[in-house]
Amino acid sequence: METVYKKVFVTTAIDYANATIHIGHAYEKVLADAIARYYRAKKGENNVYFTTGTDEHGITNQQAAEKRGITPQEHVQDISSQDQAEIDSLNVSYTRFFRTTSEDHKHKAQEFFTKSMENGDIYKSAYKGLYCEGCEAYKTLSELTEDCKCPLHPTRQIQEYEEENYFFKWSKYEGFLKELIETNQLQILPGGRKKEMLAFIENGIQDIPISRPTYKLSWGIPVPNDPEQVIYVWFDALINYVTSGEANGFWDDDTYIIHFVGKDIARWHTLLWPTMLKSAGYRLPNTVYVHGFINLEGQKISKSRGNVIRPSELVEKYGTDAVRYYFLKHGPITEDVDISIKHFEEVYNADLANGLGNTTARLAKLAEKAKLSLDISPKFTLEIKDFRVDLAINELQQKLTELDKHINENTPWAIEDETKLKEVLTTEITQLVNIAENLKPFIPETVTKVQTTFLEGPIKAPEPLFPRIS
Ligand code: MSP
Repeated sequence: METVYKKVFVTTAIDYANATIHIGHAYEKVLADAIARYYRAKKGENNVYFTTGTDEHGITNQQAAEKRGITPQEHVQDISSQDQAEIDSLNVSYTRFFRTTSEDHKHKAQEFFTKSMENGDIYKSAYKGLYCEGCEAYKTLSELTEDCKCPLHPTRQIQEYEEENYFFKWSKYEGFLKELIETNQLQILPGGRKKEMLAFIENGIQDIPISRPTYKLSWGIPVPNDPEQVIYVWFDALINYVTSGEANGFWDDDTYIIHFVGKDIARWHTLLWPTMLKSAGYRLPNTVYVHGFINLEGQKISKSRGNVIRPSELVEKYGTDAVRYYFLKHGPITEDVDISIKHFEEVYNADLANGLGNTTARLAKLAEKAKLSLDISPKFTLEIKDFRVDLAINELQQKLTELDKHINENTPWAIEDETKLKEVLTTEITQLVNIAENLKPFIPETVTKVQTTFLEGPIKAPEPLFPRIS
């Protein structure tokens, strides 16, 4: 579908700034980054816009600041820059690191709210009900466990809210949503997630509060013309995509828009967000891609379990591309996955140290000895279907295995005839640089090293790309 569009806008969820992100959050950023890089190679550098960032308002951020005894501004500034550093350590090529506390966003969120109100979709009413602060979401009893806990945040107390709020007429859009999703005008991938979302619609869509009174929560964007209310954090956060895209010409009809999100927030993106856009008079996204969760040695990653790993810790030990490669090949692209350092190291040694690293070293040594120099331009021929980066990597890995086989069968180290040797090496190195070219969206720095080795001046064996871990 995306082939007919001139431009592409790729987004990730923006992370809550209550605590620094861990490898679970980072997975999504690397996934979206691979897709952004892929489209840049296909459509040209300037035709792709890519945003990630931090979600900085709401009760959890305010509470985190209170706990530290600093202002919310100071707190979110601190976490946001830590998050950005974590994401940078993975070489994520965002065009804008988005912060919901930025001035342009504040204006856009208020303008959006006003447009929806003018369209008759926002009204004020009393609310009485339950709220999970961890999800920043209103809950019904049926969504909670028997002891009245949120299954996603079992250590938090469920809150009872009784207050005046502005409501969004979500129910009005039930029929619209159903048709939108059934007809794939909004594509939800993988297919199983589409069924789940349709099932939610079958349960009925109810109007939802989209503001909080300031005497209970002050840390938010003021509701236009009502200083006693702030905009509900999810309503505020979703609008980040329009603030960011529109300002740069990527929320128009020439743009293919794709959101990458985790399974826990698929509902907001597939059921609420399209109706908000419809209400305020904006075009809708094309695709919401829903990935699963990373668990660590059978456990959910969480502060209370004490098993949080930051991306930068892995990067320091193994290098950026090794982490990217592992996430993209073995991450939760469709379903949850369980990862471990042991598995990571096994994959590192098998695919990177022995695979790509070893093949590069072997061919470079032979070419150096043969005084070979090459004048070839590698070709980017990669096709990623349905955003399955894992399958695309598997195919390239398969090609590397075939190349290795070719090297072992042709034993270039034993060829004495110089012309024949150069011929065999040229064939093999051409294959290697083409495979590498197609690995660019996944492990860009390594690919540059491979290309530099073989395509710039006399070939010289490089430093090992991925030193073996023993
Ligand atoms: N702030 C909201 C998103 C607003 S988007 C307009 C939010 N933030 S979050 O920090 O809780 O999560 C950010 C993203 O990270 C979500 O897509 C979430 O699914 C993802 N992940 C959080 N933990 C994860 C794993 N353990 N594994 C994979 N993804 C995970 O929700």
